Amino acid sequence: MPWAGSVSPTETTIILPPPPGAAAPALPALLAHGRRGVPVSATLAANEALASRRSRGEPVLPLAFGESGLPVHPLLAAELAETAGHGAYGPVAGTDRLRAAAAGYWSRRSLPTRPAAVVAGPGSKALLFGTLLALGADIAVPRPSWVSYAAQATLVGTAPHFVPAVPEQGGICEPAALDAAVLASHTNGRRIGAVLVTLPDNPTGRVASPQAVRELCAVAERHDLVVISDEIYRDLVHDPGTPILSPAQVAPHRTVVTTALSKNLSVGGWRIGVARMPDGATGAALRDRLLGIASEIWSAPAGPVQHAAAVALDEPADLAERVDRSRALHAAVCQEAARLCLSAGLALSPPQAAFYLYPDFEPLRGRLSARFGVRTGADLAALLLHRYGAGTLPGSAFGERASSLRLRLATGLLYGDTREQREAALAAPDPLALPWISASLTRFAEILADLAA
Ligand SMILES: Cc1ncc(COP(=O)(O)O)c(C=O)c1O
Repeated sequence: MPWAGSVSPTETTIILPPPPGAAAPALPALLAHGRRGVPVSATLAANEALASRRSRGEPVLPLAFGESGLPVHPLLAAELAETAGHGAYGPVAGTDRLRAAAAGYWSRRSLPTRPAAVVAGPGSKALLFGTLLALGADIAVPRPSWVSYAAQATLVGTAPHFVPAVPEQGGICEPAALDAAVLASHTNGRRIGAVLVTLPDNPTGRVASPQAVRELCAVAERHDLVVISDEIYRDLVHDPGTPILSPAQVAPHRTVVTTALSKNLSVGGWRIGVARMPDGATGAALRDRLLGIASEIWSAPAGPVQHAAAVALDEPADLAERVDRSRALHAAVCQEAARLCLSAGLALSPPQAAFYLYPDFEPLRGRLSARFGVRTGADLAALLLHRYGAGTLPGSAFGERASSLRLRLATGLLYGDTREQREAALAAPDPLALPWISASLTRFAEILADLAA
């Protein structure tokens, strides 16, 4: 099997060194011309490496893949089954029913939305890709930011410009640095035309403050940038009292918002997402372009999935309760993992949302280097995988320098190996007391203690 991540066209795609003896595949002559490729997404590649360890019967600690490993709610499964007999393609933008439900979902979150402003697609990832293709401009992305933004920009033939995120926050470019990056892009002939915000953020699990959002929107206004606000984790903010302001509330005429059900209702494999286009002429033009792209790539999202997604976006009480329980479970496990990191001496801004944490192993650099020869985040991730069976992702996958010892840890797959265990985790008043979750966290603490020894 070829080892994943063998090509590294940008520092966003460094994954893990190959196992001993594996050779990097040569590029066939037929592919040597034309567009640059990107390797298998870092998250998916790490997941595959773990799966193969597991199939050999070796213990694993799955902290790499950003999946919320919870069962599909029976109500949603029933809605999907009920419409399985519908085989038509349907409208490119998605069904009227789904777009009306998405409009309602956003309107309940202080974003009044017309169904006509909604475009549905096979996952928000596809909608983000279509939006970048429709814009055709270089894009500013926070450093660090989710693996796929920079890779998608490369694939559409534009360039990602990494701009440092606001310290202690996440998912949002530092406004003054964004301003400077846009001006620099004008002088070197690569115009930055859009900026990405992840609210709440992956990889840091942090939520940008309303003040940072306002300041970013002011820079976007000054330089006429489109803002793309990826709000897929919006319903998973641990403390519901945390203030959250969408850029679309501040700059509605220039902000695209995307979301999906993949994380809050754990149906990533269903591939369904929705985008809310900006108000006014920009929104109308962007929507037309996005629909043209959608019509040539995916035609329409899967019909039965759209039906179930519409039910979900209506937020009936049973599903709202499921989201509440998931949020509480994510918060309990993720925050306990964060506590263990802090007690092991790592640097960390405690997570506020979802199931991610982004510790910095810099305080252990001397020991890691002397004992294991670790110099880079990729070395550290490889050490964790090969010595302890722990899958993680190095900060370089999120745009950090290779030497950074930050790792993105995802706790969403620690809830159990079976459906029964995951159901029990959702129902438990104290999920940390469940033996399998406790065992994973104990193992995590042991690994950290061994690294720090
Ligand atoms: C920040 C962010 N945006 C988008 C996605 C993709 O979501 P979807 O399943 O809707 O394509 C992910 C999934 O990991 C993510 O972390």
